[in-house]
Amino acid sequence: MKDIIFEIVGSILIIREQTDESKLLQFSNEILERYPKIKTVVVQTSKVKGVERSRDFQHFMGIETFETVHKEYGNTFEVDISTTFFSPRLSYERQRIANLVKEGEIVLNFFSGVGPFSIAIATKCKECIVHSIELNEAAYNFLVRNIELNKCEDIVKTYLGDAFSIVPDLFFGEVDRILLPLPLEAERALPVAVNSLKDGKGIIHWQITDKVQEKERINRNIEQKIENVLKTNQIESSFHIETSRLIRWLAPRIAHIAVDLVFS
Ligand SMILES: C[S@@+](CC[C@H](N)C(=O)[O-])C[C@H]1O[C@@H](n2cnc3c(N)ncnc32)[C@H](O)[C@@H]1O
Repeated sequence: MKDIIFEIVGSILIIREQTDESKLLQFSNEILERYPKIKTVVVQTSKVKGVERSRDFQHFMGIETFETVHKEYGNTFEVDISTTFFSPRLSYERQRIANLVKEGEIVLNFFSGVGPFSIAIATKCKECIVHSIELNEAAYNFLVRNIELNKCEDIVKTYLGDAFSIVPDLFFGEVDRILLPLPLEAERALPVAVNSLKDGKGIIHWQITDKVQEKERINRNIEQKIENVLKTNQIESSFHIETSRLIRWLAPRIAHIAVDLVFS
């Protein structure tokens, strides 16, 4: 069944693209029989949508639920795939960032979802504080639950609401490291993030989508984009790109890119 594109979140197998119903029946039956950990098969019926980045699904086989428990690098995440964003494909990126955080840092996550980035950091860095904002109430409730499940209440602090209102009120000039895991709002969030760095210095993990013609041009394009954003917002800051890495291809030549920016 090479042509069936799927992902697994906890006990739910998600068929990502509509396919021939009889092939799907055969595939789902085989999976449920062979892999007892998979209890449910659903079909994704919409793209990721809106600011909440949720998707629509249709139940196909097995237990009828959209809620599950996903384990990743020793962390446990309860999630409802139909009301919140969760992507196992970002697991490497979460660990990569968690490994960069140093003890004592104040970290700010603008777009926390159910908490996978914040909790990955908190379970590695016991002397940090990770301020975590989330707009979607369903995702926020899972964030609070997941903090309890992973026993990091002393490290991850939660805020329900719009990061664009909360951050200027609470965090301008306060933090060492910032996570912006929402390409949709990348350019709007960047100046707010720069203003939140302590003495204008620190690290911003910026996720963007970009048209990529040639690999060598990625950093030049990104640098130009950042300079434009800073200029438009009258921010004078010096920065360099520490790392940029392709997270995945979203379409031919459209890349989801993680950029580590150092402001000094
Ligand atoms: C792409 S998801 C990433 C969630 C999480 N970081 C992860 O990797 O699973 C972006 C999240 O940001 C939330 N969000 C969107 N706009 C927001 C805003 N203005 N303030 C706070 N959260 C927001 C969405 O509800 C969603 O849960």
